[in-house]
Amino acid sequence: MRKKVVAGNWKMNTTPVEGVELAKAVVAGKGSVCSCVNFIVCPPFTHLSEVMKVTRGTGIAVGAQNCAAEAKGAYTGEVSAAMIASLGVEYVILGHSERRQYYGETSATLNKKMEQAFANNLAPIYCVGENLAEREAGKHFEVVKAQIEEVVFNLTAAQFEKLIIAYEPVWAIGTGKTATAEQAQEIHAYIREVLRSKFGAKADDTVILYGGSAKPSNAPELFSKPDVDGGLIGGAALVADDFLAIGKSFSK
Ligand code: PGA
Repeated sequence: MRKKVVAGNWKMNTTPVEGVELAKAVVAGKGSVCSCVNFIVCPPFTHLSEVMKVTRGTGIAVGAQNCAAEAKGAYTGEVSAAMIASLGVEYVILGHSERRQYYGETSATLNKKMEQAFANNLAPIYCVGENLAEREAGKHFEVVKAQIEEVVFNLTAAQFEKLIIAYEPVWAIGTGKTATAEQAQEIHAYIREVLRSKFGAKADDTVILYGGSAKPSNAPELFSKPDVDGGLIGGAALVADDFLAIGKSFSK
């Protein structure tokens, strides 16, 4: 049985004070959700230390939204994986489409970030997904395959076991447009197939999350699909009740 994961990507939202309130509300409501659901919250860097104080010992894990490609040194404005991990943070989102699109992150950069994450015991949540033009041209399978081959295929088997994948069609992120549950299942199953071609049966244990306008109303159908193991939630993760309701939508 694969883990069920609901991760909140807060992006560049909330002040630290607001973020702590949000984390407290998630902690307070967690008891109403099946203990089978693993929640992860991913606040901005500035909030990590305070959010860790709120979540420590509650079963809610914390992730960062990015980390530097280098270990340390003269890289003004960067935050290293070691700095993040030293706070007790367990996860890091890597390769989010907004990072790829606005900050020019390539597979070469992401390979270095992966290396830093693993060297510091952070489990990456690696994002893949096609844009609208690619989807309309029927290229979504090959785009996602390349994003996996160029980065995930460089991992060792032991590293691969810790990896979470998030499939996030760019056309669905923050647009209110969600992939249908059938579209999500189709590509999640394909992603697992690609992973199986390299890592064999270990791919059956890989958590593959869906992201892109997931909300309480559509999560039950998405999560009912066999290869959809949870969600990476943006907008709806900023409202504790919605985030928790998404956790409650697991029917398997
Ligand atoms: P969204 O974002 O839920 O607001 O569409 C998801 C994401 O980008 O991780």
